[in-house]
Amino acid sequence: MTDNQDASRAKHSYFTRLSHAGRAATHSHGFVNPPVHRGSTLLVPDVATRRAPTNRFERQLTYGVGGTPTHWPLEDIVAEVEGGTRCQIVSSGLSAVTTPLLAYLKTGDHLLMPDSVYGPSRNFCGNVLAKFGVETTFYDPMITPDDLAKLFKSNTRVLFIESPGSHTFEVQDAPSLAAVAKSKGAKVLMDNTWGIHHFQPFKHGIDVSIQALTKYVAGHSDVILGGITTNSDEDWELVRGMSMALGQFASPDDCWLALRGVRTMAVRMDRQEKSALEVAAWLSRQQDVQRVLHPALPGSPGHDFWKRDFTGACSLFGIVLQQGVTQGAMDAMINSLDLFGIGASWGGYESLVLPTTGSLTRSANSGEFGGPIMRLHVGLEDPADLIADLDHGLSVLRGFVG
Ligand SMILES: Cc1ncc(COP(=O)(O)O)c(C=O)c1O
Repeated sequence: MTDNQDASRAKHSYFTRLSHAGRAATHSHGFVNPPVHRGSTLLVPDVATRRAPTNRFERQLTYGVGGTPTHWPLEDIVAEVEGGTRCQIVSSGLSAVTTPLLAYLKTGDHLLMPDSVYGPSRNFCGNVLAKFGVETTFYDPMITPDDLAKLFKSNTRVLFIESPGSHTFEVQDAPSLAAVAKSKGAKVLMDNTWGIHHFQPFKHGIDVSIQALTKYVAGHSDVILGGITTNSDEDWELVRGMSMALGQFASPDDCWLALRGVRTMAVRMDRQEKSALEVAAWLSRQQDVQRVLHPALPGSPGHDFWKRDFTGACSLFGIVLQQGVTQGAMDAMINSLDLFGIGASWGGYESLVLPTTGSLTRSANSGEFGGPIMRLHVGLEDPADLIADLDHGLSVLRGFVG
């Protein structure tokens, strides 16, 4: 934590900082928002300047790929939201996962990944890390700290956490699992995309926090971007060093859009949280719904950890339909929805739905929830309209003849 960050965090609330962080006058020549700085080549006045030593861990303009004054304010505000010291902006949420994995792991190392991790992150372990001699063990996201300790080997270097899990929404006992990793000398990396704004990773023992800025930060389903936040110089140098070695770069135009998005993130998320809870509570009362996988609702896996560690919830959750509902009936319901677009990603202003059944990979446990699962993202629409749409969808499900 720098002295400036400390002072600002002591003086102003999170919501105030969300409006003011990353707005150094030097970034913007006095305008409220920074301009888009596009550029590869930077001209220097003479050869001596060109030959002068540079430090790639600091903000020095040497070549576009090292970052520009459009990246810096976004880095500052993501670090602020996450409660860390520095952030590296990368080209996608997925590269915010893969870059630190490559930074901390080498041939012969062992990695612990939750079974409920985002599919492409899982794929990276099996198809890339394995090729370079890194072994991955997938663990049950609801594992106890004692059982997790038994999975550690002498070469386990990284514990990865994603809480709640993709599609099945298990909230992990992150602080206790992180404490086990610490005692074994391993680093803790966490995909905190769902928890943005509501989970402070560095207060819970996480070393590196990963964000798909594509979601609520950008907020308008038109940007792909990732952020990797660290809280120590040692972690920063590893993450920044790997990002530079890989040639990671995010377009300044996308950073500019994400900067616009993040300023209104708190109000969007607040409204979306309330609407999602209303929709989820309504769904939990429907006869065709066996279970709602919403971390803020009792009965959802890890709900007590959510209550302990999170200050709220985003608007992404799942539902398990009754046993006996066929995949065909679920698909017919999804096809009949008018306001929920069928599409990947989340965190935008519009509602989305995806069938989960048929696309889950699980190996540590059966992944069996006793009925077909679908994932819902609630946008900024009126929740009453969304409920009416789902009500119609459930009548289509009931009337489905396969
Ligand atoms: C939990 C989680 N992490 C990472 C990502 C990857 O983000 P991106 O789409 O920006 O690559 C996603 C995308 O859906 C996600 O859901």
